[in-house]
Amino acid sequence: MTDKKADVCFAAVGDLHCTEASAGTLRGFFAQASEAADALLLCGDLTDYGTQKEAKVLADELSVVAVPVIAVLGNHDYECGAADDVRRILQAAGVQVLDGEAVEVQGIGIAGAKGFCGGFGRASLGSWGEPAVKQFVQEALHEAMKLESALAKLRTRRRIALLHYSPIAGTVQGEPPEIFAFLGSSRLEDPLVRYPVDLVVHGHAHRGALEGRTVNGVPVYNVAKPLLLRTFPDQPPFRLLRLPAE
Ligand SMILES: [Fe+2]
Ligand SMILES: [Fe+2]
Repeated sequence: MTDKKADVCFAAVGDLHCTEASAGTLRGFFAQASEAADALLLCGDLTDYGTQKEAKVLADELSVVAVPVIAVLGNHDYECGAADDVRRILQAAGVQVLDGEAVEVQGIGIAGAKGFCGGFGRASLGSWGEPAVKQFVQEALHEAMKLESALAKLRTRRRIALLHYSPIAGTVQGEPPEIFAFLGSSRLEDPLVRYPVDLVVHGHAHRGALEGRTVNGVPVYNVAKPLLLRTFPDQPPFRLLRLPAE
């Protein structure tokens, strides 16, 4: 445990992709994260197909964690059409699943939303043409508004934004450029410019880059588990991020 007067420490990881076969395999590193940090942040793709069985395995694995667990869902958690069940099972296990909401851990605010894709900067998909394209863009705007309303609820001086999709192109570098548009959206960056945020964590881009910055200099960390495992093969797959305690 960190010196709580000096720092609040968060262990962050995304893309656990928990399956039924994961039973017994995650609790070791969950226990290490719980020991090392004051809270655990899970950046979506908690399960592989979004089934109730997978969510129950994950809930069971998380039972060793003694610190608050705050999560957002990812696209994989929606695959079976049972995202509400996944959320409910994890909430019953004490996980705070954010979808446009905010929580506080030791005076640090955490605003969470899944986010959505659509591309970055000038390559962003525009709301133009067929209704299906407009609906797609609308979904990204809707997720950006969820993040914004979560940030607006916080009165803490320090804030973390917790996402699944990336808000910047910087942390998807390394992925094939052809799929950048499916890895995140600059529309998620807008609330991070409008509201003061100390750091952003996300997953989804398994082959992306570890760190980047928003246009206004906020550090963004891609904590997708496959990326962490590949970059730090000798360490447990979570990123420790510290913010000064208030
Ligand atoms: Fe993933
Ligand atoms: Fe994903």
